Amino acid sequence: MIFVLGATGKVGRALVPALLDAGAAVRALTRDPAKARIDPRADVVQADLDTADLPALLDGVDRVFVLTQGAHHEPAVAQAAARAGATHLVKLSTTGVHFGQPDPITLAHAEAEQAVREAGPAWTILRPGAFMDNRFAWLRTIREENAVYVPEGDPASALVHVRDIAAVATLALTTSAHEGATYQLTGGEALTTERQVAILSDALGREIEYVEEPESAARQRMTRMYGWPAEAVDGFFALKRASADHEHVVFGTVERLLGRPPLTFAGWARENAAAFTYPYRG
Ligand SMILES: NC(=O)c1ccc[n+]([C@@H]2O[C@H](COP(=O)([O-])OP(=O)(O)OC[C@H]3O[C@@H](n4cnc5c(N)ncnc54)[C@H](OP(=O)(O)O)[C@@H]3O)[C@@H](O)[C@H]2O)c1
Repeated sequence: MIFVLGATGKVGRALVPALLDAGAAVRALTRDPAKARIDPRADVVQADLDTADLPALLDGVDRVFVLTQGAHHEPAVAQAAARAGATHLVKLSTTGVHFGQPDPITLAHAEAEQAVREAGPAWTILRPGAFMDNRFAWLRTIREENAVYVPEGDPASALVHVRDIAAVATLALTTSAHEGATYQLTGGEALTTERQVAILSDALGREIEYVEEPESAARQRMTRMYGWPAEAVDGFFALKRASADHEHVVFGTVERLLGRPPLTFAGWARENAAAFTYPYRG
C-alpha cells in the first residue's frame, strides 16, 4: 500500500492515477473527502496533519509519498512511518535545497529532507523547480482583463510539468532502483515570463497583454485581489528573491529517468487553454 499525502494537490492529482495505472494500491489523504475528487480506485482517508493520529494514519502502509504545505509536518510523518514499518519514503522537496537558498520554505524542506533520510526506511528525494501549474495564478486576470501582471525582474524559469514529477515519483515508489537518490527536476528549457505569456496566447488564439509592475503593486494585488495574508505575501517574495538566480537552470534528470524529453510549456498551455478562456468573451 502506497500512502499519498497531498493527494488532491497539483502533484498528487497527477500521481494518484499514475500509481494506480502502474498497478499499485493507493491510500490517498485529504482533509475533506466530500470536496476532493480523487480517483475512485484509491482508498481515500480523511485527516488533517495539524491534528492527525499519525500511528493510526500510517498503519499498514509500505511506502509514503511525503508532500506537505511548508514541510513542517514531515519530520513527525517520517518518524511515524518508520515506526509503522514503512520501507520507503519519497519526499517532494524543492531545487531551492540544491542551491542552498536561505528562504524559510527552502529551509523547512532542507530540515524535512534530513528527517526523511534519518528516519530509517529507504528514501528518495525529489526536488522540483517551479511548476507550470503555478501559472494558474494568472487565471483570474486573463479571464477578467485578458492580461497578466508580473512583478518587475521576474526571472526566466525552467518550469516543470507536474505529470513529469508524478512520473518520476511513480518510478521511485514502485521500484527499488531509486533508493538513496536525490533528483533535481525541471522542464527542458528556461522561458522568460513574457515568452510564457506569448505561448499561452498562441494556445488561446488571442493575444494576452503582458504587464510588468513594481513589487509594491504586485503585493497590493495579492492582498486586494486574492486576499493573501501579509506573511504569505512576504514568504512569496522571500522565495522569489532567493530563487531568482537559479530558476533558469535546466537539469537533465527527467529525460534521463523517463527516457523521453520533459513535457513542454506549449503542451501545458494547449491542455489548459479552455480553463483560461472561460468566461472571457473579448
Ligand atoms: N509550486 C511550486 O512551484 C513548487 C516548486 C517546488 C516545490 N514545491 C512544493 O510542493 C509542495 C506543494 O505541492 P502541490 O503544489 O502539489 O500542493 P497544493 O496544490 O498546494 O495542494 C496542497 C495539498 O496539501 C494538502 N494539505 C494541505 N494542508 C493539509 C493538512 N493540514 N493536512 C493534510 N493535508 C493537507 C491538501 O489536501 P486537502 O486540501 O485535500 O486536504 C492538498 O492535497 C510544497 O511542499 C511546495 O513547497 C512547490
